[in-house]
Amino acid sequence: MRASPRFYLLVGIPGSGKSTYARRHLGQALRLSLDDLRLMLTGVAYDSRYESIVIGVGHAALDYMLSRAATWQRDILLDATNATRERRKHYLQLAERHGLPTVAVFLDCPLEMALARDRARPGGVGDEVVTRYFAQLQPPTAEEGFAELIHVTDCGA
Ligand SMILES: Nc1ncnc2c1ncn2[C@@H]1O[C@H](COP(=O)(O)OP(=O)(O)OP(=O)(O)O)[C@@H](O)[C@H]1O
Ligand SMILES: [Mg+2]
Repeated sequence: MRASPRFYLLVGIPGSGKSTYARRHLGQALRLSLDDLRLMLTGVAYDSRYESIVIGVGHAALDYMLSRAATWQRDILLDATNATRERRKHYLQLAERHGLPTVAVFLDCPLEMALARDRARPGGVGDEVVTRYFAQLQPPTAEEGFAELIHVTDCGA
């Protein structure tokens, strides 16, 4: 096990392969998934009326996990789209406060491939949502202050 834990911040549009990548390559990390949290709290995959609650609970849980990571000697992973710089900045600052280096993992996925994967999976979010995220996405850059930026091309294929 690594001596000092790291914070893995996934970045990618719906269907880009974030959760699959996390399972395959970062299985050692304690994973906080906002999608799982949505389902757990509300019983549905997504409902905009509950979004502020989901984000609030997620932030509180992440804050606690980051605060305990050194004691637990475990990496922490946030599985969410994290599509905007503003959102990522918040998490970067949180990790910094707890002394953890942040590693961004960017699932760089062409729109067509994300759409195809989303259509093929049960409970996909739909073309409109995938396309909207694709338009919003601000690819992560080194200037944001990551200790490392892992660029996964072709949605991890
Ligand atoms: N490397 C891969 N090769 C083939 N299929 C993949 C790969 N990665 C993911 N998939 C498939 O693509 C679909 C979307 O993957 P996944 O659920 O990991 O995406 P996601 O980014 O976590 O999406 P969301 O933001 O909606 O949670 C799934 O059906 C998954 O099985
Ligand atoms: Mg996922």
